[in-house]
Amino acid sequence: MKLVKTLDGSYTVYSEFAKENYHSVSGALDEAFQKHVNAVGVEDGFCILDFCFGLGYNSIASTMGNHNLEIIGLESDLEVLQVMQTLPVPEVINSEYSFFRKIAERLKISDENNNTIKLIIGDALQNIDDLPEDYFHRVFFDPFSPQKQPQMWSAEIFQKVYDKMRRGGKLSTYSCAKWIRQNMKIAGFTVLNGPVVGRKSPATIGLKP
Ligand SMILES: C[S@@+](CC[C@H](N)C(=O)[O-])C[C@H]1O[C@@H](n2cnc3c(N)ncnc32)[C@H](O)[C@@H]1O
Repeated sequence: MKLVKTLDGSYTVYSEFAKENYHSVSGALDEAFQKHVNAVGVEDGFCILDFCFGLGYNSIASTMGNHNLEIIGLESDLEVLQVMQTLPVPEVINSEYSFFRKIAERLKISDENNNTIKLIIGDALQNIDDLPEDYFHRVFFDPFSPQKQPQMWSAEIFQKVYDKMRRGGKLSTYSCAKWIRQNMKIAGFTVLNGPVVGRKSPATIGLKP
C-alpha cells in the first residue's frame, strides 16, 4: 500500500481498490480529531463503533485522555492493519498508537488506561448484524466515498447502525451529500451539520433522539 503524507504531517494510504486516499490530503489525523472525535465528543466508559477502521486513527484519537472505552472496529482488509505496524505517526499520538500497532495479530488490545479495541474482520455490512442493539454511544462512520461504495451509505445500513446505538448516541461522518443525509433521516437520525474541515462543505452528525 502506498503511503501519502498529508498536510498536518500524518500519513494516509492510497487504496488501489477504491482508487482514492483513505483521508483528505488536508490532514489525516486532523480529520480523525475534528470530523469525528471532537465533533461528537467522547467520555470515559463510552462504547464506540468504528465502522471502517482502516489505520485506526478515529479509534486511537478517541482514546486520547480517555479511560475504559470499549471500541469495536469493523474492517475487511488485513493489509491495512499490517501497515499500522510500521506506520510513522505524529508525536502527539505516538505513545497511544504504539499500544495498538499489533492489532492485526491479536485483534483485541488494551492500553494502560483500560481502553480496549476489538476488531471484527470481514464485511461490515454483514458483521454489523452480530453486534448488540442499543449499545453504542458513538459511531465513527468512515467508508470509502459514496461514489466508490454506494452500498455502504444506504438507508438500510444506516438503519442497522441506528439500531445498534443508544438513545442520545451520535454518529459522525465526512459526507454531507443530500441523498446520504436523506437516508440517515429515513433511518431515524436527526441530522446536523458537522465541522467544516479541509473543504468548503460541512461534515455530518447523526443524533439518535
Ligand atoms: C476511508 S477508509 C477508513 C479510514 C479509517 N477510518 C482510518 O482512520 O484510517 C475505508 C476503510 O473501509 C474498509 N472497507 C471497505 N469496504 C469494507 C467492508 N465492506 N467492510 C469493512 N471494511 C471495509 C477499507 O478496507 C478501508 O480500510
